[in-house]
Amino acid sequence: MRVEPSEAHVAAHHHDAPTEEATAVEHVFDLRGVGVHYGDFTALQDVSMGLPRNQITALIGPSGCGKSTLLRCLNRMNDLVGSARVTGEVIYNGENIYDADIDPVEVRRRIGMVFQKPNPFPKSIYDNVAFGPRLNGQRKGLDDTVEQALRGAALWDEVKDKLGDSGLALSGGQQQRLCIARAIATEPDVILMDEPCSALDPIATLKIEDLMRELRESYTIVVVTHNMQQAARVSDRTAFFTVNIDDHVGMRTGALVEYDDTEKIFTQASDERTEAYITGRFG
Ligand SMILES: Nc1ncnc2c1ncn2[C@@H]1O[C@H](COP(=O)(O)OP(=O)(O)OP(=O)(O)O)[C@@H](O)[C@H]1O
Ligand SMILES: [Mg+2]
Repeated sequence: MRVEPSEAHVAAHHHDAPTEEATAVEHVFDLRGVGVHYGDFTALQDVSMGLPRNQITALIGPSGCGKSTLLRCLNRMNDLVGSARVTGEVIYNGENIYDADIDPVEVRRRIGMVFQKPNPFPKSIYDNVAFGPRLNGQRKGLDDTVEQALRGAALWDEVKDKLGDSGLALSGGQQQRLCIARAIATEPDVILMDEPCSALDPIATLKIEDLMRELRESYTIVVVTHNMQQAARVSDRTAFFTVNIDDHVGMRTGALVEYDDTEKIFTQASDERTEAYITGRFG
């Protein structure tokens, strides 16, 4: 990438006094008229939104409205789906990540992902976390990198004496924190999480939510969740999506209904569809 996020970050905050410019919200991502198509099928249409840096943005909405599709579009994971095509612009730190000269591997290094089902590699805890840094060519200081990532994911104390054990031998909640450690080990800019707690019990869920709030200090987080309490508890901004059904051709297309401060969405949504969904009155 031509623009180093760290430099952009420094530049944006290089003001001594809080001027209007300095207090303006800085967007890591600006989506402009984004659509995602699988072959002839349009899964998501005309999404425009800015994702603020160092905040947690929640994507909510009924099954099939395109939340995972949109998330994958933010780090070019859709490239790995043969039929997928993205239209519009996904501006990340000032550049469209779908421009021809952008390296998708570099995009995925900057924008990490944590999936619904914890998916540690069948390797040791240590090797799981060291995987990304090694791939990036890091040879020195790996012990330190692994420790920092595990500390960052609030897992260090639980695993520091068994780093050689298999990652698969951990509990579900620990495995998910291991996956978060693996994601932050490469020092990404953004972490995308697709229903990261749906396989976890309430205690492990709260642990991940606490962790997300800590991670927000250093990263921008975009999280898909079906858990309304979770969206309300953890996120700063919430985007509600719905599925529009075209009766003539039976096409089901996802669309952004409303995007605002989480508090506003949950207390005085502008659109009645949003309110119906968050209060559980949605069919
Ligand atoms: N690889 C694919 N090929 C074809 N269609 C797909 C593919 N992935 C998703 N879709 C379709 O795109 C639409 C959006 O799917 P997506 O998985 O993004 O929804 P979602 O909001 O994440 O749903 P859920 O809440 O159930 O996870 C759906 O109609 C789905 O069938
Ligand atoms: Mg999904």
